[in-house]
Amino acid sequence: MEDLMVSDKKFIMGTYKRYPLAVKRAKGKYIWSEEGKKYLDFFSGLAVNNLGHCHPQILKAIRNQLLKHLHISNLYYDSLQVKLAEKLVKLSIPGKVFFSNSGAEANECAIKLARKYSHLRGKKQEAKYKIIVFENSFHGRTLATLSATMQKEFQKGFTPLLSGFKQAKFNELSTVENAISSETCAIMVEPIQGEGGVQVATREFVRGLRTLCNKFNLILIFDEIQSGMGRTGKMFAYQHYGVTPDILTMAKGVGGGLPLGVTIAKDEIANLFGYGNHGSTFGGNPVSIAAGLAAVKLLDDELLQNVKVTGSYLMGRLNELKCKYPKRIKEVRGLGLIVGLELKEEGEEIVNRCFEQRILINCTHKKVLRFLPPLIINNSDIGKLVSTLDRILSS
Ligand SMILES: Cc1ncc(COP(=O)(O)O)c(C=O)c1O
Repeated sequence: MEDLMVSDKKFIMGTYKRYPLAVKRAKGKYIWSEEGKKYLDFFSGLAVNNLGHCHPQILKAIRNQLLKHLHISNLYYDSLQVKLAEKLVKLSIPGKVFFSNSGAEANECAIKLARKYSHLRGKKQEAKYKIIVFENSFHGRTLATLSATMQKEFQKGFTPLLSGFKQAKFNELSTVENAISSETCAIMVEPIQGEGGVQVATREFVRGLRTLCNKFNLILIFDEIQSGMGRTGKMFAYQHYGVTPDILTMAKGVGGGLPLGVTIAKDEIANLFGYGNHGSTFGGNPVSIAAGLAAVKLLDDELLQNVKVTGSYLMGRLNELKCKYPKRIKEVRGLGLIVGLELKEEGEEIVNRCFEQRILINCTHKKVLRFLPPLIINNSDIGKLVSTLDRILSS
């Protein structure tokens, strides 16, 4: 392990603070280290492995595709791409799909679409280009998506950023209305802010955003890169709110463990992209698409029901801890199996202690322990996590 850590430091840019775990293999909700230690995964590769590691149906789909071809080009037709696009559209909003490789790229596409739509509608060229985004949002690390990410520590050192993003306060509708100007073209929001500390949007807020977009003729973009693909107990988090976006972005779980980004836009917006307006050499790679098709099929009603049941059990058990340790725990928040426990202290030490006890969790926004288990988790796994946290918090 020590040798690997030294070589990693020498050859790989230090953008990630790694835990001392070199993975040998992973299956279902478990990960095994090179040394043979077994870890219970409450992180899912940051909400990617929603069906657990190496689901046999996903592996089968990947294997079948590997035997056919790996990459051709988006210059040719691909029936599986069309099949997945049709499936995702049926599961979300009527419209058209652009396939990319990551969450940031999916959002980049959404930003370009919003601008294009408004340019073509505006009387003056570039009259409307501003997008309202939210305090503590996270939309990615490319320059455009970083500019949309309202967390100063991520932006530090990368100025000048792309102009045209205006910040409003999450769950405070009046700040959104105040931020709208004649130059605004869209509102971009995560229904649940993941990196921002697992903040769940209120019903009133999400519905209010839709009303404002209708009133001022703005595009409503939902970034469901972390909250989508069954994580909340519905296929997409927005479906809890009874409103629909004009553009929806997804990534992480949609590729079943392989890189895939998806942007869906209503026809009226999507149809404005013509030849050469956007592109990606690898976007919608056949292997990722095959894995994505298998993953989406597996996200059935039974699994979504498991998310609801285990999610509320997890929240309940964490709230018991909150009652037991009121001096250390501030709040428990979440929806389905995206759950945050906000501490009154920094959380990294607790993550490290869980790691020592072979449970993988994560801390975001410094004080929020974040739980993103695979959706196949059960109450007994949750019991194990909670008793481990209990032991740690009591010491
Ligand atoms: C809500 C949200 N948007 C965008 C991204 C960026 O996704 P990627 O890292 O795949 O570019 C993330 C990643 O964590 C995310 O949680």
